[in-house]
Amino acid sequence: MIFNLKFRFFMFFLATFFMTHVCVYDFSICNAKHASANSRKQDAQNATLNEDQTSIRIGYKGNVKTYNLSELKKKYKEIKINIDKHPAYNNSTKQYLGFDFLNLMQSDLVNIGNFDDYKVIITCTDGYRPVLELNLFTQHKAYLAYREDNLSETADLSPDKMWTLVKLGEKLVSPGHFYLIWDSKSTYPDGWPFQIQEISLVRKNEFEDYKKLAPVGAFNARISKGYDLFVQNCSVCHSIQYVGPHGKAPDLAYVTGYREEKYILNLLKNGRGAMPSFDKVLSHDQKLSIYEFLKSKATEQ
Ligand code: HEC
Repeated sequence: MIFNLKFRFFMFFLATFFMTHVCVYDFSICNAKHASANSRKQDAQNATLNEDQTSIRIGYKGNVKTYNLSELKKKYKEIKINIDKHPAYNNSTKQYLGFDFLNLMQSDLVNIGNFDDYKVIITCTDGYRPVLELNLFTQHKAYLAYREDNLSETADLSPDKMWTLVKLGEKLVSPGHFYLIWDSKSTYPDGWPFQIQEISLVRKNEFEDYKKLAPVGAFNARISKGYDLFVQNCSVCHSIQYVGPHGKAPDLAYVTGYREEKYILNLLKNGRGAMPSFDKVLSHDQKLSIYEFLKSKATEQ
């Protein structure tokens, strides 16, 4: 078992190593081919974004919805953002197109009472997940950028030509599709998360609850994915060991003990009574991840 875990981790490591190095290699070929800055500038001007396929999840934790860029543009005012000193680019000037962050949070996506009561959880592609006080966004101005404007001709551009690459450790990566940008006059010192996939609000007291539900023990990507999906999709109604809402739906702490996998997957597919169907929301693989998470909870000490 131990060998197995280590082996899996090693394979994961190998895959990651391979992918990052292949990418870096690829970029260098790319740069050599397009040596002239002009041709790159041309590329950047010609680049178009598929707005229906560029999406982000926003909402109240437990009720997070997916919005694509064209929906966001219809709903919110597009803003041109000028950053005098961008810390990720040697304090150089940068321009972006995006939306007012607080507007996104305050809209009818989420019905906020008192700002003091909430935290904002930002989930990025690589698993980085800063948790910020919502109040921070009332004190400092922030934007959600969806592309860079006036790209510099000399910069290293992302493969989609929408962004200047940014440093992540030793690597250069694209900050898209969504990048949190702070107003230059009130720059928030260390939170410029990029490759944002989800922005969710959670009440502070519930935040402590969700942390209690997080999987413990051995590293297992499927179970932790299942945990995320459970919090996003199920935790508005279901508790686990009475952590979470009460009285809306049965507690699921030991449900895998008395219900078979097939029964649970079927229920997720079809729904029943007040329990909605998740067939259009979750893939089969995602349903399985939730099942594995529930199973891990049932056997947790
Ligand atoms: C809107 C509220 C709601 C949401 C969201 C919800 N459920 Fe349910 N769920 C219910 C209710 C109500 C029942 C009881 C239905 C019945 O027995 O008629 C139920 C029943 C169940 C049962 C069966 C329990 C048993 O003992 O038979 C399972 C398993 C379950 N839900 C899992 C989930 C999972 C996993 C999710 C997230 C993907 C989820 N539910 C999301 C309301 C909800």
